[in-house]
Amino acid sequence: RDSGTETDPVDGENVTVVYGAAELVVGPDDETGIVVVEDAAFAAVDGRVVAVGSTEDVLTEYPLEDADTSIDATGKTVLPGFVDPHTHALFAGDRSDEFVAKLRGATYEEILAEGGGILRTVDAVREASDDELVSNLTDHLDAMLAHGTTTVEVKTGYGLDTETELRMLDAIAAAGDEHPLDVIPTFMGAHAVPRGMDTEAYVDDVISDQLPAVAEQGIAEFCDVFCERGVFDADQSRRILEAGREYGLTPKIHADEFAAIGGADVAAAVGAVSADHLLHTDDSGRETLVDAGVTPVMLPGTAFGLGAEYADARAFLDAGYEVALATDFNPNCFARSMGFVATLASVGMRMTPHEAIRGITSAAANALGRPDGTGTLTPGSLADAVVLDVPTATHLSYRFDTNPVSTVLKSGVVVHE
Ligand code: NIG
Ligand code: FE
Repeated sequence: RDSGTETDPVDGENVTVVYGAAELVVGPDDETGIVVVEDAAFAAVDGRVVAVGSTEDVLTEYPLEDADTSIDATGKTVLPGFVDPHTHALFAGDRSDEFVAKLRGATYEEILAEGGGILRTVDAVREASDDELVSNLTDHLDAMLAHGTTTVEVKTGYGLDTETELRMLDAIAAAGDEHPLDVIPTFMGAHAVPRGMDTEAYVDDVISDQLPAVAEQGIAEFCDVFCERGVFDADQSRRILEAGREYGLTPKIHADEFAAIGGADVAAAVGAVSADHLLHTDDSGRETLVDAGVTPVMLPGTAFGLGAEYADARAFLDAGYEVALATDFNPNCFARSMGFVATLASVGMRMTPHEAIRGITSAAANALGRPDGTGTLTPGSLADAVVLDVPTATHLSYRFDTNPVSTVLKSGVVVHE
């Protein structure tokens, strides 16, 4: 960076130029996955992209001497800021002992059915102070930003009662207000059934008690449900998501992670913006999702961590549909790096590095209902960008040792270097 980010006193505009990139990813392309420009640059004015193309063309229009901020990306690769559309990043406590138990043969579903898993994190979150919750989430947002994420969705679902669910939403909003990352809140009261409670009674609590309070509080944008064998069945999931929609919350769904119990049909019926996991989705489930315009979100970190089979990303891609990717960061999947997710998507699901980049940028923005240029570097979009210290975009999946991120910009401002 050659200069500060203060507003230019002459024309009142704040100009950012990133130039000399060996490769720059502009946005999605249906043939190749993404549009890549070589020896490239982009310029932004007041936080929005105004020009993108060859370094020569961009610098002719926006000379370096007029830029408030300029970044020399020679030999590096510039991508749109990563969008992580599925996380449970707000939690407390430590479940590393369950990781060891799973290595010894225990399954995720067994641990949850015995009152562990999500329910142990619920205990820890109920006991944590508001400050602790905000500080825990902020630490994770810092790590995500350092790995190139500029927009992240964060779910509740470790409260499972009205008071704690609202407290989680307050903490998500508070951490988001103070952090350069865009933080998008999702209400997920239907994440598990509290110990000793009847599932129907809990569904009733989510619909009649939690949802009205969440709507009144006005923080959450989405409503999500864990539609799964032994958790919420298809009918219960549909009722919760429909009720959420009545309160203005856009539906999302955890579907077909351990068993296909009708989550894809629910997603289509309620008009979900995304269906996530999809490890056990078959051809007809896939057809149902794409016909209804639901964005499939794959979470290869979860499959990796559980030693499970990966979702069938190729079935969507080969039929011409895009696949979004997310970390699913949670105590059962301790992954905050979208670059690592890109590697897992390539190695585990045979997604090309370019398809994976689309998955963590523009496709991920679609999974968050933001087809407004988020996850792209096209004129008009927010100048959220990542400069990677690698020679081509392909290296993001290819390398899986150290963090390749050298600079992160949010709305044209350097927020990490
Ligand atoms: O998406 N599957 C449900 N929810 C999370 C796991 C949350 C947890 O285990 O704490 C997921 O993988
Ligand atoms: Fe999840």
